[in-house]
This record gives sequence, structure tokens and C-alpha cells, in this order.
Amino acid sequence: MPTLAERYAASVEQLARAERVIPLASQTFSKSRTQYPVGAAPLFAQRSLGCHTWDIDGNEYVDLVSSLGAVALGYGDEEINEAVIRQLRDGVTLSLAHPIEAEVAERIVDLIPCAEMVRFAKNGTDATSAAIRLARAHTGREHVIVCGYHGWQDWYIGSTSMNRGVPERTRSLTHAIPFNDIYALNAVISEMEGQVAALIMEPMTSAWPKEGYLEEVRRITEAQGIVLAFDEMLTGFRFAPGGAQEYFGVTPDLASFGKALANGFPLSAIVGKREILDLMPSIFFSGTFGGETLSLAAAKVVLDRMATGEPTARLADIGGTLLEKVEAARPAASRDFLSFSGHPSWVFQQWSIEDPETLAQAKTLLLQEMLRRGVLVLNTHDVTTAFTDTDVDHVVGAYAESLAIVSEGIAHGTLADRLECEPIRPLFRVRS
Ligand SMILES: Cc1ncc(COP(=O)(O)O)c(C=O)c1O
Repeated sequence: MPTLAERYAASVEQLARAERVIPLASQTFSKSRTQYPVGAAPLFAQRSLGCHTWDIDGNEYVDLVSSLGAVALGYGDEEINEAVIRQLRDGVTLSLAHPIEAEVAERIVDLIPCAEMVRFAKNGTDATSAAIRLARAHTGREHVIVCGYHGWQDWYIGSTSMNRGVPERTRSLTHAIPFNDIYALNAVISEMEGQVAALIMEPMTSAWPKEGYLEEVRRITEAQGIVLAFDEMLTGFRFAPGGAQEYFGVTPDLASFGKALANGFPLSAIVGKREILDLMPSIFFSGTFGGETLSLAAAKVVLDRMATGEPTARLADIGGTLLEKVEAARPAASRDFLSFSGHPSWVFQQWSIEDPETLAQAKTLLLQEMLRRGVLVLNTHDVTTAFTDTDVDHVVGAYAESLAIVSEGIAHGTLADRLECEPIRPLFRVRS
């Protein structure tokens, strides 16, 4: 077996080169050295196909990150590629709007319960920010309540510990609440009486909604004239063809989608009630690349496939089987410090280690050992329909061996000795 220094030599070299000209050497926080330990992890991918990724050192991985959930149908899907290539011959970004925009919007209206109208953009943040601007325009109020992660713009990120550069005035308008906590929601609403424009929330992350929780959220926001927006960046096209709103049977006023919508092509969408989306021209939501046709061609294929219900059923099946097998194969001792939670298509590792340094070491050691065994994973399983039984078994084997090492490290107090890198320390936490 090569040493880790040999295994990741090209990644480490590329990091030094890229960091000279690119802050963080990555365009995406969660793809950077803030998440992957330098010297014990791949830092640059060469290519991906199906559910496999190859790093620039030539190492192969079963990929559970799936481009941070942006890929649900597997990388390099042939039907999507062909549709994109056909569209490419007609042009990528044209001087006028293109009919494909309405074709894709119609499919979304058919699929998503709250969607009466649709506008497209590139990043998820574009769509969540549009939801907030729309809600403010619709209600004439300024304050917003957030629950989960909603992107990098001032109105949201100012409410986290990563708030440098966000004016205090903007920060004071956003109130973060924990999931499953009706009391916290009511407390903000009464403190900010008559001033709350929107509640934007991820309808589920690691914890299942308590019985009646989402229904109560819907009832309260409606009674208070607050726009309810579901941020379905991850739940969309994973939980059900119509997203978490279909899955849980609770219909918001607005919803944002992205990621799996175009299976890795850059496309997001803000959808919702006609009376609110009708305000679009007046809030000036507009972008040069909003109608870029390649991503829309990809989305058309994705949506037709999603409409059959087959992909979401398969994601739940694969994710559920993977979890069952991991549970059966992992060492009993690992249950003391690690459990798994969430919907099978988006499973979270849940750590229960109090001491922050021990926690950082244990998490990083698991990462180091999983990566060494050819499994690309952060703290979630974002499976894709491309997983085969062999891929699932590969991940299961890697977990069994890696968790045995972490368990021993914890039992003997030797976590630090087993690490071949600096532990990754969390910079901020956005999901409770
Ligand atoms: C729930 C949620 N909302 C919004 C975003 C922001 O999307 P983007 O990074 O495409 O701007 C993300 C990205 O991870 C997300 O998970």
C-alpha cells in the first residue's frame, strides 16, 4: 500500500499551485481543505462517472458526496449528455428568451405542488434570495426567519458566525430558529409583531419533522400573513418527485430548487404562488445566464425521469439498503459515538462525542480511513441512482474497517497517533 503522502502527492502539489491564485483553492467551501484534511484526502477531482470519482492522483472512489447532492441520477448520464449536446448545436446563451424555458417550467408546475409559476437562475442562493425579496415585496415587511442553510447572501449568512462583511442593519433583520421548535417560531413572531415577511426553512435535514410540526408551521404562517418558503435544494428530487412538500403533504407559498434539478448542470428555480411570482418584474430578479439552455435541456430530461417516480423510489431503496448493511457490519463499539439519521436518500452521520478536540480527531480519522479505502464521503450519504450492489458493499466494507480503527482509537486514547493529518475543525454550523 502506498503511504498517504504518495497516494495524495498530486493533490497536495495542486493545492499549493491553486492557492497562489485562488483563495481557498476552490470555488465551493465544502469542496475545499476546510472539509478535506490536507495530506490524507484527495483535494482535486479529475473526472466522475456513474457513482465513481477519480482524483488527480488516479485514485478511484465510490462517491457518496455526489457533488454536494447536485447529482441524483449519477454522473455522466447518457440521455442527459445527448440532450445537452443536441441543445449545444443551437446555442448556449442566446439574445432572446428560448422556448425551452417554458417547457421546463411547465414540467415543474406539473410536478411541484406549490408551483404555479417558475423563474430560473444559476445558484441555489439566487433562488432563496429571490424568495426573500418576493416575500418582502408581497408583505411590505422586512424581517425574515430562517431555519437551515440557505446560501451565501447577506440576508442569510449574516445570521451565522460567518458574518464578516455583512452590515449590522442587515443582520438584525434575520432571525434563526431551530427545526422542530414551534415555541421558537412563535417567540420570534411575537417579538417582531407584524414585521415578519417570510419564514424560509429546509423542510427536513437530519431530523424527521415531529408529528404535526410542518402543518403547524403552515397554519401559523398563514394566520400571521407570513410567506412560507420551503428551501428544497436538497430534499427536491430526492424525497419525492414533488419534493418534501409532496412527501409530507404540506404546501408552502414559495419553494426553491437547485442541485439535482439539472443533475449537476447549473440551474436553480424559484417557484410558487402566482400572486407572489407575479411581483417578479417589480423586484428586478434578472440575470444574463438565467435562461442558459444547456442546463435547461438537462433539467427537461431530469424532470421527465423524475415524473415517473422511479428515481426517488430507487434513491430511498439504495440509501436504505446501504444504511441497513452498514448498521449490520459496523463494530458494536462504534454505536457509542456515531449514529445515522435522516431520510434514506440523504443520511447524516450523527456524532455523540462531547470533547470538541476528540470529536474533530474521530471525525477526521473516519474520513482519512474511508478515503484510503476508496470512499468519498463527508458527513452525509447523498446516494445516486447509479449505485450498484457492488458499490454499496464497497462502502459497507470501508465503514466496517474504518469504524473499527476509530473505535480502537477512542478506546485506547490513540486517535491523534492514528491521524496522518491535522484534524478538521468545524468553522461554522448551520443545521441544528
Ligand atoms: C438547503 C440549501 N439552500 C441553499 C443552498 C445554496 O445553494 P448554492 O450553493 O447553489 O448557492 C444550499 C447549498 O448547499 C442548500 O443546501
